[in-house]
Amino acid sequence: MNVNDLKHAGLKKWVEEAVALMTPDSVEVCDGSQAEYDRMIQSTIDAKLAIPLNSSIRPGCVLFRSDPSDVARVENRTYIASEKEEDAGPTNNWIDPAQLKKTMKELYSGCMKGRTMYVIPFSMGPVGSDIAKIGIEITDSAYVVANMHIMTRVGSKVLDVLGTNGEFVPCYHSVGKPLAAGESDNGVWPCAPIEHKYISHFPETREIWSYGSGYGGNALLGKKCLALRIATVLARDEGWLAEHMLILKITNPEGESRYVTGAFPSACGKTNLAMLIPTVPGWKVETVGDDIAWMKFGKDGRLYAINPEAGFFGVAPGTSMESNPNAMHTIEKNTIFTNVALTEDKDIWWEGIGYDAPGKLIDWNGNEWVQDKGNKEQKPAAHPNARFTGPAKQCPCVAKEWEDPAGVPISAFLFGGRRPKTIPLVNEAKSWIHGVFMGSIVGSEVTAAALDVKAGTIRRDPFAMLPFCGYHMGDYFQHWINIGNKSTEDKLPKIFFVNWFRKTAEGKWLWPGYGENSRVLAWIFNRCAGKVGANETAIGFMPKPEDITRPESVSEDDMKELLTVDTEGWKAEIADIRANHYPKFGDKLPKELFAELDAIEKRLNA
Ligand code: OXD
Ligand code: MN
Repeated sequence: MNVNDLKHAGLKKWVEEAVALMTPDSVEVCDGSQAEYDRMIQSTIDAKLAIPLNSSIRPGCVLFRSDPSDVARVENRTYIASEKEEDAGPTNNWIDPAQLKKTMKELYSGCMKGRTMYVIPFSMGPVGSDIAKIGIEITDSAYVVANMHIMTRVGSKVLDVLGTNGEFVPCYHSVGKPLAAGESDNGVWPCAPIEHKYISHFPETREIWSYGSGYGGNALLGKKCLALRIATVLARDEGWLAEHMLILKITNPEGESRYVTGAFPSACGKTNLAMLIPTVPGWKVETVGDDIAWMKFGKDGRLYAINPEAGFFGVAPGTSMESNPNAMHTIEKNTIFTNVALTEDKDIWWEGIGYDAPGKLIDWNGNEWVQDKGNKEQKPAAHPNARFTGPAKQCPCVAKEWEDPAGVPISAFLFGGRRPKTIPLVNEAKSWIHGVFMGSIVGSEVTAAALDVKAGTIRRDPFAMLPFCGYHMGDYFQHWINIGNKSTEDKLPKIFFVNWFRKTAEGKWLWPGYGENSRVLAWIFNRCAGKVGANETAIGFMPKPEDITRPESVSEDDMKELLTVDTEGWKAEIADIRANHYPKFGDKLPKELFAELDAIEKRLNA
């Protein structure tokens, strides 16, 4: 399809303006077909950017290796360019939108020379769902088109829903590497130097402009840019929630099902939890989503969630048949791998895949790599943020209702992070506002030494939204309070704080995690169903010892420690929130949250 066939006058004009600015050699409007996907992959193979994997082991799969400067989201090059700086808040980077557009227009000028401009109509959420939103991404990357085919719903069916005057979020993307006449990428991942990378959001005009990176959340603009940063602004204005949450379905032995969402900072095992295989006999967990949830009130006053995505963009290292067999089965075919290692028989390998490297590998930099287990300094074969892009429909435990346009009714919200001390295994909020308090104090232990923070310290990541909230975080807390006022406590999800990452003073894990987390999920299910009581404590409701079964590997003493309030630890936690966390939000910190802090402190001192 070409631009002249576009029936939406506003869209056609916007594309024509982009063509004039970026001057591609040709323009293609994507139809979302398998033939188109195959063509995109073939063009990247021809440009030596993709390597086809062994079709008898991993049919329909390819491997990409990115540039070492382009391997992850770039938070310090990500901007919320609101009209007023104060609307971006203290946790976002801000540049005046007019100035940023001027800078970026200079970069965009002629940036697609020698390349094809692809126009990708995509739907976040099932096409035509009331909760879904349409975006149009313009990109010069066939890798992006192929990934968008998996991660979103792409093509003509989206243009049909858009009609002649429907609303869409316009998204510009360019890798920022024009080609001279006759030049090809020829095996070099195209991107721009770090100081030219911009991942920009214009909240008032709901626009996304991305330049210079071809990787993940910087380039697949439906995901973090639209479904979180821009969607948070839409959700605030329209009275719903756009959250960094997995969605799972849990069914008890009697066949009753409930739906739970959960917000955890990056690298806390969200995908594993969404695909968990319960160890508690008779219970079943199925997946609706692993990263993002959009929730709107139904007529019955309950919140209904959809997964706006259609695939999983998961971290490969650490994923194994032991940690997440469902993810491993999802990526057996039709999957794009980025920055994993390549085996001699053209299959994939990464650290934590569950078996030793089978012979000589090619690492993510394209160099020969032979495993040396004695060498602790050996650089990993797969980049720690290496990814798989796999279709959700291939997941063996995907819930049958995962694409239901009406969404699924949510019974519980979970918040969590890596907290080696203080935070118990599970703790239920006493009220909605107490739950909002819990969300606002989410934090996780910093493990990556590369981050410019001392390893072992706690990085606060409210609602796991620190890099993803498109406006002032204080206003976002207020939005959560407002959502609670739109319904009643009996209809709103119950809120729980969970912590799978407690350690002993000697650094040993207190809780085994993975499938054993089902014991906690079962208690949460039973609380929501009114089937089980709880102990009321200073920090919330906690399980009675007899109501949560103990894994064989956990001693009675350890179980007790996991389920007791660490009063002194909590006092220190409260003091840290009061002195270091809440003041960051200034006047915008809702007074209800300070009141909650005072109330908990008072109970701890009682
Ligand atoms: C992700 C993230 O990639 O949260 O999902 O960083
Ligand atoms: Mn995420």
